[in-house]
Amino acid sequence: MCGIVGYVGGREVVALLIEGLRRLEYRGYDSAGVVVRGPEGLIASKAEGKLDRLVDKLEREPLTGSFGLGHTRWATHGAPNERNAHPVLDARRRVAVIHNGIIENFLQLKTELIAAGWEFETDTDTEVVANLISSLYDGDDLRGAVDAARKRFEGMYAFAVMATRREEIVATRQGPPLVVGLGEAENFLASDPAALLTYTRDVIFLDNAELALLTPRGVEIWDAQGHPVERAAQRLNWDPIQVEKGGYKHFMLKEIHEQPQALQDTFGGRVDFELARVEFDDIGFEGSLGESEVRRVHLLACGTSLHAALVGKFLIEELARIPVEVDYGSEYRYRDPIVEPATLAVGVSQSGETADTLSAMGAARERGASLLAICNVANSQATRISDGVILTHAGPEIGVASTKAFTTQLVALFLLAVRLRQARGMETAAEELAALAHLPQAIDETLALEPKIDQLARRFFRAEDFLYLGRGINYPIALEGALKLKEISYIHAEGYTAGEMKHGPIALIDEDLPVVMVASGDRVYDKVISNMQEVKARDGIVIAVTDHDAEELAGVADEVIQVPRIHRLLQPIVNVVPLQLLAYFTGVRRGADVDQPRNLAKSVTVE
Ligand code: AGP
Repeated sequence: MCGIVGYVGGREVVALLIEGLRRLEYRGYDSAGVVVRGPEGLIASKAEGKLDRLVDKLEREPLTGSFGLGHTRWATHGAPNERNAHPVLDARRRVAVIHNGIIENFLQLKTELIAAGWEFETDTDTEVVANLISSLYDGDDLRGAVDAARKRFEGMYAFAVMATRREEIVATRQGPPLVVGLGEAENFLASDPAALLTYTRDVIFLDNAELALLTPRGVEIWDAQGHPVERAAQRLNWDPIQVEKGGYKHFMLKEIHEQPQALQDTFGGRVDFELARVEFDDIGFEGSLGESEVRRVHLLACGTSLHAALVGKFLIEELARIPVEVDYGSEYRYRDPIVEPATLAVGVSQSGETADTLSAMGAARERGASLLAICNVANSQATRISDGVILTHAGPEIGVASTKAFTTQLVALFLLAVRLRQARGMETAAEELAALAHLPQAIDETLALEPKIDQLARRFFRAEDFLYLGRGINYPIALEGALKLKEISYIHAEGYTAGEMKHGPIALIDEDLPVVMVASGDRVYDKVISNMQEVKARDGIVIAVTDHDAEELAGVADEVIQVPRIHRLLQPIVNVVPLQLLAYFTGVRRGADVDQPRNLAKSVTVE
């Protein structure tokens, strides 16, 4: 995700853009930039890293102007550095673009433009947008040029464009959000209302495929077919902090709901669905080990990321037939691990700064392993010490409890598994990759269960203990569900493999113990049903999460949460969502500080 801000009117634009970007920084902070129209044309100022770096640069080299664009970046294509920062100007310096999303066919378009003599300076897909628009721009009709260019794009995107000729901004979206703010002789544009509230509460949310033209005199909107759109402005009554949460009560709930987009952003641009192949242009195995030579994988992580790694073991062993070890960072580093030749050690970490994980990665490297980081923060320590990096594009995760970072880690591990499969010359994972395209929709449908999950929380939030059970690839989901409940509601919750219940935990079962059981339609489904009957036989309370027909469990489970069915290797990603929501609503009902639970930190950078 990135943050987009635009302004046309009479105010000093740079200060306004910076203020707006400050409110959007949670959307991404790899780099930031602004562009204004100066006496000699378009002038941009950009800086790598957090927004403060750009503010410092502007204090040294100020810009002035009455209209402009601002952007804070979450890197997708092209490393997070100043060269790849937005705004991006075209080769002839006639237009400037700021962009959120992924142009999936950018390589094809870039090849065409290069053949037509266009030069490129960045590694971004955004520069293709700028050059293509400029190639279609007659110096007068910017809207027409943008409209013609966007018809060539595939993928999810929101972008805004300005040129030198007129004081106007043209913007359009397909996926990521854009909102227009209406003022007196001035108008605003942003990724979400947080950036506008200081100046206006009258907004128009652009629909997908709409195109907007903003001038100080007004805003015009057209639909995909070029027909004018008349839409009354909404008046927002959010307070600024509320708006940063996008209208959600907590960042955690907002981030749970961002998962469809985050998953799309994580696999978007990395899968050729026609050829059923995973294509990374940024994984960069520069180490001694080529992908086709990998003979063993060590997955190293902590907390929720360790649970992702446990799912990753199933994915890599099944899809690539490579043996996988999973270990807690805090354990691996002290057990003098055996690292055989051709071992790939993968650090899985949202922050990329977790001390135990980093140390484990170092221990693996010292023993000859090649390193790969699966991480949500570009330029973090884990990415810097690794030979290869797979960035999850979850966007900044503000809530301490990891939700969208977890599910995007599962997608990244899935992509790695397929990638290793390809490197070993195995047959294409066509069925699995086809299912991946439907994953965001399946998550969307699962999120619609929210009212039902809140009712479950209402029934059980006073429980003192919970047991979470799962089998096979869903055993880690039971662990993750228990961790979410623990860290958000402070209820003692334990995750266990369902087959182990009879070897001890069954002694805990009584009429006060809710037992959450993940019963997915795969090889062990019938076994989980038997475990449910064992719980019921001891008066336990069964809450089932299943992709089977709820009717099948009506006589066994007390509560059934039916989720959409998807390929069994991707089903854990769907199954975890109700457990995230259950933890959230239970924590809210217990009055816990959901976004910043007691004793926790977002990134544990100490041992
Ligand atoms: C997850 O909800 C927790 N906040 C915590 O377990 C976290 O997953 C763990 O500290 C690892 O963090 P990382 O992914 O940034 O390495």
